[in-house]
Amino acid sequence: MSSCRLLCLLALAFCPGSVSAEHRRLSPENLLVITAATEETEGFQRFMRTAREFNYTVKVVGLGEEWKGGDVARTVGGGQKVRWLKKELLKHSEEKELVIMFVDSYDVIFASGPMELLSKFSRLGHKVVFSAEGFCWPDQRLASKYPEVRSGKRYLNSGGFIGFAPELSAIVQQWKYKDNDDDQLFYTKIYLNKTQRTKFNMTLDHRSLIFQNLNGAVDEVVLKFERAKVRARNVAYDTLPVVIHGNGPTKLQLNYLANYVPTAWTFENQCGICDDDLLFFNDVPDEEMPLVYVAVFIEHPTPFMEEFLDRLTTLNYPTARIRLFIHNNVVYHERHIQKFWELHRSLFPGAVLVGPEENLQEGKARHMAVEACKKDPDCDYYFSIDSDVALTNPDTLRILIEENKSVIAPMLSKHGKLWSNFWGALSPEGYYSRSEDYIEIVQAKRIGLWNVPYISQAYLIKGSVLRTKLSQVSMYMDEGMDPDMVFCRNIRDQGIFMFVSNRDEFGRLLASSNFNTSRLHPDMWQIFDNPVDWKEKYVHENYSKIFEDETKFVEQPCPDVYWFPAFSDKMCDQLVETMEDNGKWSGGKHKDERLAGGYENVPTVDIHMNQIGFEKEWLKFLKEYIVPVTEKLYPGYYPRAQAIMNFVVRYRPDEQPFLRPHHDSSTFTINIALNRKNIDYEGGGCRFLRYNCKVESPRKGWSFMHPGRLTHYHEGLPVTKGTRYIMVSFVDP
Ligand SMILES: *[C@@H]1O[C@H](CO)[C@@H](O)[C@H](O)[C@H]1NC(C)=O
Ligand SMILES: *[C@@H]1O[C@H](CO)[C@@H](O)[C@H](O)[C@H]1NC(C)=O
Ligand SMILES: *[C@@H]1O[C@H](CO)[C@@H](O)[C@H](O)[C@H]1NC(C)=O
Ligand SMILES: *[C@@H]1O[C@H](CO)[C@@H](O)[C@H](O)[C@H]1NC(C)=O
Ligand SMILES: *[C@@H]1O[C@H](CO)[C@@H](O)[C@H](O)[C@H]1NC(C)=O
Ligand SMILES: *[C@@H]1O[C@H](CO)[C@@H](O)[C@H](O)[C@H]1NC(C)=O
Repeated sequence: MSSCRLLCLLALAFCPGSVSAEHRRLSPENLLVITAATEETEGFQRFMRTAREFNYTVKVVGLGEEWKGGDVARTVGGGQKVRWLKKELLKHSEEKELVIMFVDSYDVIFASGPMELLSKFSRLGHKVVFSAEGFCWPDQRLASKYPEVRSGKRYLNSGGFIGFAPELSAIVQQWKYKDNDDDQLFYTKIYLNKTQRTKFNMTLDHRSLIFQNLNGAVDEVVLKFERAKVRARNVAYDTLPVVIHGNGPTKLQLNYLANYVPTAWTFENQCGICDDDLLFFNDVPDEEMPLVYVAVFIEHPTPFMEEFLDRLTTLNYPTARIRLFIHNNVVYHERHIQKFWELHRSLFPGAVLVGPEENLQEGKARHMAVEACKKDPDCDYYFSIDSDVALTNPDTLRILIEENKSVIAPMLSKHGKLWSNFWGALSPEGYYSRSEDYIEIVQAKRIGLWNVPYISQAYLIKGSVLRTKLSQVSMYMDEGMDPDMVFCRNIRDQGIFMFVSNRDEFGRLLASSNFNTSRLHPDMWQIFDNPVDWKEKYVHENYSKIFEDETKFVEQPCPDVYWFPAFSDKMCDQLVETMEDNGKWSGGKHKDERLAGGYENVPTVDIHMNQIGFEKEWLKFLKEYIVPVTEKLYPGYYPRAQAIMNFVVRYRPDEQPFLRPHHDSSTFTINIALNRKNIDYEGGGCRFLRYNCKVESPRKGWSFMHPGRLTHYHEGLPVTKGTRYIMVSFVDP
């Protein structure tokens, strides 16, 4: 079957009985799309991409010419487009079978292909069809002159129209005005002249069969998901528009729709529009890698700062091709920066550090950092990262660079939360608004590159974009506005697209609001707020393997005494340091008083978790990390994970070297060694009397777990040299 016959059938299906002789000849080969653009903006490139996707033939007029059509976003204008079109259409004025569609391009996308377009044009039964909208613009006084419509939008919009070449040409040849006169007014007057309207057989696409103008109609347009496909649907008129126009203040809504259109979007590979082979840099020698200005902003006290700084050195990117800038505005973090600086400064040529003593405000610091890249013609990219970003994917820079976007952020969110570094939509006041797809993107149920109105905390900007479109823009500073808001508004105002990618996992955001820097090792208290970072820092690296390979990572040195990795070295060290810093070791008289209270069977020299304000955190640790091990090793017992007695014990030859045999007042006890035998101390260990079984070589960070009462009567073996520390917890007393 020829494509012509197929089209006739389609037209028949849409509108039986109205197939004119002319319309029978409609075919995609006889369709030409004309658009006007002076500059290849990102909007223009997007338009062209959607055109290619559907195989439209597009003629662009005006490229490279200076725009004299006025600022159409804010006022009237656009006449220059008509002048160009006039010239172009003259070439086709005799081609009776040619259908021409004119559309804007900066804020337009195609949602379907030529066949559907032509069949809908045919169904409308006119020779010339203009798009319609609900506003009478630019001259409201003309509103009453428009024919009444029973349903649909009443007024003409000249951002899109379609018609046979001779008629369109005849209309446009009437243009004899100035470049900054209004194009829409010109077409409106022709349409409103009954003689001309009839002569040219003109109508408006009132119900968005073909053209969807979004201005005033945002709520009418929804994305309709069907299995692996998505299409924008006008729910007011139940139509599936072919051309979508983000006119007036609806650019962001168009960006949102364009995240899904035109690609037949699937849930497996949602990003049909972007290249997937991100391997380009694998063959590039280090010295030829793009030069990236990396700017780090430490604007408030942030947990896990050492880990943050370490990650700068483990990025999979040659540090010789990085220009590091650090703005540290927090006195508390000077110790971390100093250590980092001493160790790694030589890695980063030309690194710049601005400390809290310089009293530089955040906006000014950001300005200073970005200007450095702007001014250096060799700066290929600017990467901004805030201290509350845990960028755990070392390939992040490469991946973002390879995505080849003007501005792109890696999607980051707080662990298990919906709080992220992007906004899906903007409220009319310019603040956060949740887009329909926000949750799906944060939870990576939809994966892709997303054009969004706001990003923060970590993003990459092309140096070339800084030096062209943004060259005159003060990117972060505006009275009374936060730097991130100023930044995003500037990017949007310049018509630059901001993308966020969740095509890879990049890392997460930290929560820093409960970070209490008056503690010696405040990160230890972050088990609630930043559980993933806490685990990475404080839980033994082989802890999780207990659940994979029990035989290898759990030992049973005595009957029913299990032994497994629990704490990292850092946890052991910081716990001991915290206790020594506290210094309120119990013993002697004080001890006896407590004994009288009946808590303990035997006196130890110890400090309890509640003395350092760590009780809540400790119980959380028990629940998260010890309970699963207990349930695995003592099947059928489900710990309540209650514990009142949680303390660090200190053994010293001259203080308390050993502990006489005793039962624990617990269902089970855990006992974690906090330092190293034969290095930090000698002797020590534990003996279970009933089995006459000794464990004499405790391992730092490993925990014993044994029943407390009845069977596991035990004693602490004497420490003969140095100081031994253990963490003890009586679980379910
Ligand atoms: C566009 O044209 C190409 C090559 O002619 C074809 O493979 C493809 O299927 C066409 N796409 C559409 C959406 O018609
Ligand atoms: C427009 O033209 C079609 C056929 O080409 C005709 O059927 C219709 O009546 C015309 N409409 C007007 C308003 O002239
Ligand atoms: C309508 O257009 C015709 C032909 O261009 C013109 O002669 C006539 O004056 C116009 N009518 C009005 C009311 O402007
Ligand atoms: C990157 O994007 C620019 C502008 O869109 C384009 O001209 C260039 O070809 C792209 N580069 C690659 C490697 O895809
Ligand atoms: C911060 O820590 C100190 C002890 O280091 C403690 O006294 C204080 O209550 C803590 N503040 C908060 C808000 O938890
Ligand atoms: C974890 O287990 C591996 C393999 O058994 C071992 O090589 C490594 O040293 C262990 N890590 C620590 C911190 O003990």
